[in-house]
Amino acid sequence: MESLSAPSSSPDIDAAVAVLQRGGLVAFPTETVYGLGVDAKNRWALARLYEVKGRPRHHPVIVHLANAAALCAWATGVSDDALRLAEACWPGPLTLVVPRALVVPDEVTGGGDSVGLRVPDQPLARELLRAFDGGIAAPSANRFGRVSPTTAQAVRDDLGSDVDLVLDGGPCRVGVESTIVDCTGDELAVLRPGGISAARLREVVGHDVPVVSGSRTRAPGTLPSHYAPNARVELVTRDEIHDRAVAYADAGRRVGVLCPAPAPAVPAHVAVLLDSPHDVDEFARSLYARLREADARSLDVLLVVAPPAEGVGEAVVDRLRRASAARHETRVP
Ligand code: TXA
Ligand code: MG
Repeated sequence: MESLSAPSSSPDIDAAVAVLQRGGLVAFPTETVYGLGVDAKNRWALARLYEVKGRPRHHPVIVHLANAAALCAWATGVSDDALRLAEACWPGPLTLVVPRALVVPDEVTGGGDSVGLRVPDQPLARELLRAFDGGIAAPSANRFGRVSPTTAQAVRDDLGSDVDLVLDGGPCRVGVESTIVDCTGDELAVLRPGGISAARLREVVGHDVPVVSGSRTRAPGTLPSHYAPNARVELVTRDEIHDRAVAYADAGRRVGVLCPAPAPAVPAHVAVLLDSPHDVDEFARSLYARLREADARSLDVLLVVAPPAEGVGEAVVDRLRRASAARHETRVP
């Protein structure tokens, strides 16, 4: 009748904690995309993380925390705006770049003076962070330059046996990465649009937060090629779909179309019609799965009608622009 000691967490979580404690790699779900996590204080594990990702050493990595109270263990001199954002948006898809505490390893910061921190809003991630009782450094769980995974299967397809354990939390709720806000300068700046909208940031801090690119951007994940599938991504309007698809098909290209509902009328012999999302949230949730599908179907070109740049649509439009700016062999007919 009585149980003397209830298990503190599920067997999966216990196994994941054990892997982290011995310096291994655990892929885990967050509300945005799957992360590839290691103990953020273990330099040896961080080195292996970079090796498996195939990521340049100077790229900083986000540290995931169990709650906002842990902020002071990783950062110092945190501004009032940053604290306000943490309080309003954590747990949630927001990464705050703040001045690092001395204890943060250089492998996490890329050698810089700041650290990216976030408290994810996903039950398994939170359980893992609570049980591990420390920071988990985690980039998206894809090889460098590939599309972020939003399912456990996508992680396994990309990383195979290089990852020691994959926690399966089903498909990610948001589907695109966190919004990154640089809180180290005199003015706040968005380094990467994501799951928290510009409107929400404005509501919390009381003014617009500009999106910066170029010199102030120390977020290398903002490289154009970073979010591109192998297929050439071309942004078009709904009216352009048919003629563009026919032109590519006539030139012998395998064409796909991704367009918000209602689905456009395109003959099946001209183009593969990917599932049409019904709103911006669904567009974000399914975006990376659709880009992966384009590659799985060996498409040469993916014609995309972007959703409105509202809410998480800002991040979708951002990723689509980057994907379409990437260099590709396919020539425009
Ligand atoms: O939603 C997300 O943010 C996901 C999940 C797993 O949390 N993570 C993610 O990590 O997208 P990653 O490494 O793929 O992209 C994080 C971006 C990189 O472009 C990195 O350069 C930037 O954040 N970053 C991390 N720390 C930074 C810092 N201290 N200063 C500037 N940029 C930073
Ligand atoms: Mg990434």
